[in-house]
Amino acid sequence: MTANGTNYSKVDGPIDPSFKSKRQVAGTFQGIKVWGPVDPPGQLGIWGTEVTVDFDICVACTEACPVNVYEWLNTPGHPASEKKPFMIREKDCIFCMACENVCPPQCVKIFQKG
Ligand code: F3S
Repeated sequence: MTANGTNYSKVDGPIDPSFKSKRQVAGTFQGIKVWGPVDPPGQLGIWGTEVTVDFDICVACTEACPVNVYEWLNTPGHPASEKKPFMIREKDCIFCMACENVCPPQCVKIFQKG
Protein backbone atom coordinates (compact mmCIF):
# COMPACT_ATOMS: atom_id res chain seq x y z
CA MET A 1 0.00 0.00 0.00
CA THR A 2 1.31 3.42 -0.81
CA ALA A 3 -0.13 6.81 -0.07
CA ASN A 4 0.80 10.02 1.67
CA GLY A 5 -1.33 9.87 4.80
CA THR A 6 1.01 11.43 7.32
CA ASN A 7 -1.31 13.86 9.07
CA TYR A 8 -2.84 11.54 11.68
CA SER A 9 -2.60 11.15 15.42
CA LYS A 10 -3.00 8.09 17.57
CA VAL A 11 -6.60 6.90 17.93
CA ASP A 12 -7.93 5.91 21.38
CA GLY A 13 -9.55 2.50 21.89
CA PRO A 14 -11.62 0.50 22.09
CA ILE A 15 -12.24 -0.94 18.65
CA ASP A 16 -15.81 -0.37 17.45
CA PRO A 17 -17.41 -3.86 17.76
CA SER A 18 -19.94 -3.01 15.04
CA PHE A 19 -17.36 -1.74 12.55
CA LYS A 20 -18.40 -4.27 9.91
CA SER A 21 -21.73 -2.51 9.41
CA LYS A 22 -20.06 0.92 9.24
CA ARG A 23 -16.92 0.33 7.21
CA GLN A 24 -16.21 -1.14 3.82
CA VAL A 25 -13.49 -3.55 2.81
CA ALA A 26 -10.83 -1.39 1.20
CA GLY A 27 -8.75 -4.32 -0.01
CA THR A 28 -6.84 -7.36 1.14
CA PHE A 29 -3.26 -7.97 2.25
CA GLN A 30 -2.00 -11.53 1.76
CA GLY A 31 -5.63 -12.69 1.73
CA ILE A 32 -6.62 -10.84 4.92
CA LYS A 33 -9.38 -8.21 4.68
CA VAL A 34 -8.59 -4.56 5.41
CA TRP A 35 -11.55 -2.37 6.38
CA GLY A 36 -11.18 1.29 5.49
CA PRO A 37 -10.74 4.12 5.51
CA VAL A 38 -7.08 3.52 4.77
CA ASP A 39 -4.50 6.23 4.11
CA PRO A 40 -0.97 4.90 4.78
CA PRO A 41 1.26 5.32 6.57
CA GLY A 42 -0.79 7.19 9.18
CA GLN A 43 -4.19 5.52 8.80
CA LEU A 44 -4.27 1.74 8.40
CA GLY A 45 -7.87 0.75 9.20
CA ILE A 46 -9.14 -2.47 10.80
CA TRP A 47 -7.66 -5.77 9.67
CA GLY A 48 -9.14 -9.29 9.69
CA THR A 49 -12.49 -11.08 9.52
CA GLU A 50 -12.69 -13.28 12.63
CA VAL A 51 -9.50 -12.03 14.27
CA THR A 52 -9.84 -8.28 13.91
CA VAL A 53 -7.43 -5.58 15.06
CA ASP A 54 -7.83 -1.83 14.71
CA PHE A 55 -4.34 -0.98 13.57
CA ASP A 56 -5.00 2.71 14.20
CA ILE A 57 -5.38 1.99 17.93
CA CYS A 58 -2.78 -0.79 18.33
CA VAL A 59 0.35 0.17 20.25
CA ALA A 60 2.12 -3.16 19.59
CA CYS A 61 2.37 -4.07 23.25
CA THR A 62 2.77 -7.80 23.57
CA GLU A 63 2.31 -11.28 22.18
CA ALA A 64 -0.43 -13.39 23.79
CA CYS A 65 -1.59 -15.85 21.15
CA PRO A 66 -1.01 -19.55 21.99
CA VAL A 67 -1.33 -20.72 18.37
CA ASN A 68 0.79 -18.10 16.63
CA VAL A 69 -1.98 -16.45 14.60
CA TYR A 70 -0.05 -13.20 14.35
CA GLU A 71 3.24 -12.09 12.93
CA TRP A 72 4.63 -8.60 13.25
CA LEU A 73 4.15 -6.30 10.28
CA ASN A 74 6.31 -3.20 10.10
CA THR A 75 4.27 -0.02 9.73
CA PRO A 76 6.79 2.84 9.74
CA GLY A 77 5.25 6.27 10.09
CA HIS A 78 2.14 5.17 11.97
CA PRO A 79 1.43 7.44 14.97
CA ALA A 80 0.36 4.68 17.41
CA SER A 81 3.15 2.16 16.75
CA GLU A 82 5.52 1.24 13.95
CA LYS A 83 4.61 -2.45 13.93
CA LYS A 84 1.26 -4.23 14.01
CA PRO A 85 0.09 -7.79 14.73
CA PHE A 86 -0.83 -9.12 11.29
CA MET A 87 -3.32 -12.03 11.61
CA ILE A 88 -1.74 -14.02 8.79
CA ARG A 89 -2.87 -17.33 10.34
CA GLU A 90 -6.37 -16.06 11.16
CA LYS A 91 -7.82 -19.47 10.21
CA ASP A 92 -5.85 -21.12 13.04
CA CYS A 93 -7.58 -19.07 15.74
CA ILE A 94 -9.04 -21.20 18.55
CA PHE A 95 -11.05 -18.27 19.95
CA CYS A 96 -9.29 -18.32 23.31
CA MET A 97 -9.74 -14.53 23.55
CA ALA A 98 -6.26 -14.05 25.03
CA CYS A 99 -5.35 -11.30 22.60
CA GLU A 100 -8.66 -9.47 23.03
CA ASN A 101 -8.43 -9.68 26.82
CA VAL A 102 -4.80 -8.61 27.14
CA CYS A 103 -4.87 -5.58 24.84
CA PRO A 104 -4.48 -2.36 26.90
CA PRO A 105 -6.21 0.01 24.42
CA GLN A 106 -8.73 -2.72 23.44
CA CYS A 107 -7.98 -2.68 19.74
CA VAL A 108 -8.78 -6.40 19.23
CA LYS A 109 -12.22 -7.91 18.52
CA ILE A 110 -12.64 -11.64 17.94
CA PHE A 111 -15.68 -12.82 15.95
CA GLN A 112 -16.41 -16.47 16.58
CA LYS A 113 -17.81 -18.34 13.61
CA GLY A 114 -21.50 -19.20 13.97
FE1 F3S B 1 -7.28 -16.35 18.41
FE2 F3S B 1 -6.38 -14.24 19.73
FE3 F3S B 1 -6.49 -16.61 20.93
S1 F3S B 1 -5.97 -14.77 17.62
S2 F3S B 1 -6.18 -18.09 19.29
S3 F3S B 1 -8.23 -15.39 20.18
S4 F3S B 1 -4.91 -15.07 21.18
